[in-house]
Amino acid sequence: MAVLQIIRNLFVPTEIVEPEIIVPAAPTVYEIHPLTEKQLKEVMRLNLRCFKKGENYNKHTFSFLLNEPATLSYRVTTPNEEIAGFIFVMTSKGTGHITTIGVAPEHRRRGLAQKMLLYAEEALRKRDIATVSLEVRVSNIAAQSLYRSLNYTIVQRLNNYYNNGEDGFLMVKPLF
Ligand SMILES: CC(C)(COP(=O)(O)OP(=O)(O)OC[C@H]1O[C@@H](n2cnc3c(N)ncnc32)[C@H](O)[C@@H]1OP(=O)(O)O)[C@@H](O)C(=O)NCCC(=O)NCCS
Repeated sequence: MAVLQIIRNLFVPTEIVEPEIIVPAAPTVYEIHPLTEKQLKEVMRLNLRCFKKGENYNKHTFSFLLNEPATLSYRVTTPNEEIAGFIFVMTSKGTGHITTIGVAPEHRRRGLAQKMLLYAEEALRKRDIATVSLEVRVSNIAAQSLYRSLNYTIVQRLNNYYNNGEDGFLMVKPLF
C-alpha cells in the first residue's frame, strides 16, 4: 500500500463494519440542521457506517458537495449534536437530485429518512424546483420502500449503472 494511503487511513477509516446486532438508540428528539464543512469528518464516518466499501463517497466528493452552492445538505441531530442522518441534494436546471441519504443503524425506522426527504423537498419547492429524482440499487429494497412511501415512482431501469455492474432504478417525484 502506498505510504500516502497508509497515512490517510490513520485519519479516516475506509471501512466500518457494523455489528450484526444493532442496539437501538434511546428514544430522543431530533432536529434538522444544515450540514456544513464543519461536520465533514463526522458525516464521512456515518457514511462509512451506512454504505458498504465501494458504495460510499470519498472525502473529495463530500468536500465538493459541501462547497458546491447548488447543493443542499442537511443533517438530523440528537440533542447532544450527534449526527443521526444526512442527505445531499444537487440542484440543476429546475430539478433536484438526491445524491445520497443515510441514517445511523441505531436510529433507523423512526421516520428520520422520511423527515429529511420531506424537508429537502420543501426546500426545493421554495426554489421553484418542480421535480426531484434519485437512483437506487435494484437490491436496495429498504430504500425503494422508503421512496415509494413518499410517492416516488420508478421511471426507468438503469442497466449496469453501478461500479459492480448492478442495475439501478431511476425514481422521480413531482413537487407541485
Ligand atoms: C434507507 C434508509 C435511509 C432508511 O432510513 P430510516 O430513517 O430507517 O427510514 P424511515 O424510518 O424514514 O422509513 C420510512 C419508511 O421507509 C420504509 N423502510 C425503511 N427502511 C426499511 C427497511 N429496512 N425495510 C423495509 N422498508 C423500509 C418503510 O415503509 C418505512 O416506514 P415504516 O417504518 O413505518 O414501515 C436507511 O436504511 C439507510 O441509511 N440505509 C443505508 C443507506 C442507503 O441505502 N441509502 C439509500 C441509498 S439510495
